Amino acid sequence: MYPYTFYCVLLFCCTRALSAEIPDDLLDKPILECLEKTNMDKLFFKNSFDKKFHLVKGDAKLAESLECLGKSKKLINEDGKLNHDNIHNHTVNILIPLTNTNGDKDQMATKVTNECINVSGDSYSDRIANLHNCIVDALAKHSK
Ligand SMILES: *[C@@H]1O[C@H](CO)[C@@H](O)[C@H](O)[C@H]1NC(C)=O
Ligand SMILES: *[C@@H]1O[C@H](CO)[C@@H](O)[C@H](O)[C@H]1NC(C)=O
Repeated sequence: MYPYTFYCVLLFCCTRALSAEIPDDLLDKPILECLEKTNMDKLFFKNSFDKKFHLVKGDAKLAESLECLGKSKKLINEDGKLNHDNIHNHTVNILIPLTNTNGDKDQMATKVTNECINVSGDSYSDRIANLHNCIVDALAKHSK
């Protein structure tokens, strides 16, 4: 009895650790529209995040979806600077619930947006991925 229970717990841990759980209700309208527009499979998209919610870069289709999403949410301004308000909004509505970050959402989003406001990248989509990873890391750092 005891070894069997232990085995189940172990199995659960290890299966769970392979990729992060992205709940469907955190895929908002802009995300769903971009996945559809770029023919990105929802499950493939969800599996593009590692267990720390970092985006795993390198897939061309994922890059297309990220570019669509960044433009849809206006995360980068015409002048090439990151848009603080729109990143703040995405952080409050999606990234804080996704990472189960505790505390005042508005204050936390302001802090991490300020920390990641100068993120760069090799291309538009690369910059969006770097921005996402920067914010997720900053949330983890401050939520301790
Ligand atoms: C903030 O995000 C929500 C959900 O993603 C969206 O519906 C809303 O229009 C956004 N607000 C602004 C001011 O961009
Ligand atoms: C971002 O860049 C601006 C302008 O160069 C600078 O004033 C600010 O300190 C930078 N912020 C961070 C977090 O690097």
